[in-house]
Amino acid sequence: MWGGRFASGPDAIMEAINASIGFDKRLAAQDIEGSRAHAAMLAATGIVEGSDAEAIREGLLTVLSEIETGEFEFSAALEDIHMNVEARLSTLVGTSAGRLHTARSRNDQVALDFRMWVRDQCDALDEALVSLMQALLEQAEAGADWVMPGFTHLQTAQPVTWGHHMLAYVEMLSRDLSRCRDARKRMNECPLGAAALAGTSFPINRHMTAEALRFDRPTANSLDSVSDRDFALEFLSTASICAMHLSRLAEELVIWSSAQFRFVKLSDRFSTGSSIMPQKKNPDAAELIRAKIGRIFGANVALMTVMKGLALTYSKDMQEDKEQTFDAADNLMLALAAMDGMVRDMVPQQENLRAAAASGFSTATDLADWLVRVLGMPFREAHHVTGSLVAMAEAEGVDLPELTLAQMQSVNGEITEDVYTVLTVEASVASRMSYGGTAPEQVRNQIARWKDLLEVS
Ligand code: ARG
Repeated sequence: MWGGRFASGPDAIMEAINASIGFDKRLAAQDIEGSRAHAAMLAATGIVEGSDAEAIREGLLTVLSEIETGEFEFSAALEDIHMNVEARLSTLVGTSAGRLHTARSRNDQVALDFRMWVRDQCDALDEALVSLMQALLEQAEAGADWVMPGFTHLQTAQPVTWGHHMLAYVEMLSRDLSRCRDARKRMNECPLGAAALAGTSFPINRHMTAEALRFDRPTANSLDSVSDRDFALEFLSTASICAMHLSRLAEELVIWSSAQFRFVKLSDRFSTGSSIMPQKKNPDAAELIRAKIGRIFGANVALMTVMKGLALTYSKDMQEDKEQTFDAADNLMLALAAMDGMVRDMVPQQENLRAAAASGFSTATDLADWLVRVLGMPFREAHHVTGSLVAMAEAEGVDLPELTLAQMQSVNGEITEDVYTVLTVEASVASRMSYGGTAPEQVRNQIARWKDLLEVS
């Protein structure tokens, strides 16, 4: 491509470090779509003859089908996807192929291709998140009022409802979804036509190509257009936060499916056995989802580090933007698909959840609240009295509701029979009626809201 200036070809090592075709062939569809729009614009503006542009556009379709069927031969000597496609186009249509690169550079070309690829990933992520939210919503609805222990420090804290816990993840994923849509909106400007860096002297129509490629508008600064990759960084940071959320749900599934908890049964479809211990059923999918954050956040850090300190505009450093972004996107989509399947298949164990909720003095706060509400005790004192009752129950080896009234009154004489109404886990959750609280009534309101938003019937 630059034989005019060079006397010798590159060293083999140079070719190895320089070529990106091994990975950027994934941009083939975007590259060809962008080139076809560019050719149509060159014809419409009279920069290139209509017949040449038509030959180019047709030839590009042939190249695309050769790539899709696997007959295309990629060449490392041709460096990247852009030059591989163009070289093949020359063979197919002859000299008119050479007119395609008028008013364009590989710098705006790669900025376009990669941006379109990341934009497609945003759409895929959007769809996967909505599906997982729907799966969680179904779980929430099935057990809106099932009682389970709520934890802080992974110690039993207060009884909560299964539906409430499922909806906590729906909320988290909804923010991932909102970040994804927000990033997509911001990246949806077309860099094509920025050319190498300064724009072009040809009378191009950037609005035309932007529209043909489904962008909201062309980018407004040619230097910025070829030199930033913040759209990919926004995708990767959204992906990192989402992977972090998935890792937390995955961790809970690992804990909940253990013999010590037995909160859920995971399906065989997402578990594996052990080659030596016949009784084992391991939550491998959950463990791998838990681990995916490593490479996804790694990609985010890697690209941020690549971009840091680069003087404007394009530098070859930026070729390092793709591989890890591809890897992060692939693995996030895989993790989401696996989580989707696990959530849909898992069977929560209602009895075990309730039994766990009722142990560990989980209604101690309800007892303290009763002392405040009925006896008018300051909360700090109520906390102290309740602490003594918990210590007594622990020493007796019983739970709070099993203490006799006489035992309670030995700690505080004013306690009456009425206290027992607040000590069951059902009463405890039902009383948490504050907006966003765990009461089944509140949870059902939130389920209705989410069904509306996610258009689930
Ligand atoms: N393969 C290159 C990349 O991914 C394409 C752009 C090359 N531009 C250049 N001036 N060398 O960044």
